[in-house]
Amino acid sequence: MKKIVFITGAGISAESGITTFRDSDGLWEHYRVEDVASIEGYWRNPELVIGFYNDRRRQLGSVKPNRAHLLVAELEKMYDVTVVTQNVDNLHEQAGSSNIIHLHGELMKATSTDNPNDPDCIVTLPSTDSVINYGDKAKDGSQLRPFIVWFGEAVPMIEPAAEEVAKADIVVIVGTSLNVYPAAGLVNYASRNADIYLIDPAPHNVPQNMGVHVIAKKATEGMEELCNLLNNKE
Ligand code: OAD
Repeated sequence: MKKIVFITGAGISAESGITTFRDSDGLWEHYRVEDVASIEGYWRNPELVIGFYNDRRRQLGSVKPNRAHLLVAELEKMYDVTVVTQNVDNLHEQAGSSNIIHLHGELMKATSTDNPNDPDCIVTLPSTDSVINYGDKAKDGSQLRPFIVWFGEAVPMIEPAAEEVAKADIVVIVGTSLNVYPAAGLVNYASRNADIYLIDPAPHNVPQNMGVHVIAKKATEGMEELCNLLNNKE
């Protein structure tokens, strides 16, 4: 079985109704990244940051995976598929993908402020009562915090992600502005023989000199086109 690695970003969830970060009217036009998505912001005002992610989690409760997430999952019938996502939503899981690496954490999980990457401290929040309150404690007694990788923090999943990309026959980038490192550099781990596709209606920062096949469409239409292209190649 050939191996496909998807590298996904906020754009794949846009058609489900989750706003992206850097498009016009994106989240970063309404909030300051350094306030709500940085470790310094969390130290300054943990309640604000915890509340911001409670809102994101509430929004996630009202959306569903779209056709693009579903097609990524369906490709498992013909390919060995790994999804490397920068998204903290769980729409790839809901769509049925089996192998998912979350680079920037997961909204439906919480962890310890003192030891955020200690597996013993990471808990999955119940889907019915998924609010984190200021004052809730993690297993080690420190404040429970969202399991999100903030700016200024290490990205522990980047190495396993790079290993997957290096083994891929096909790499497909979907809906990311490729602005945020180290995620944006992952494609550089691809083998010289790999076929590389990029699906985005407004492609940014297209990797150069790698023969990237750009599909300048929204994720749902772009994924349909990708599946047709792959079928015709088989
Ligand atoms: P961005 O908001 O930076 O980029 C979203 C991309 O999706 C853009 O390239 C859009 O053109 C594209 N897009 C918009 N609508 C789309 C659609 N319907 N189908 C496909 N693509 C579409 O989001 P990311 O690149 O994911 O990190 O952002 C990376 C990281 O920056 C996030 O994980 C988050 C953020 O700060 C943290 O918070 C740590």
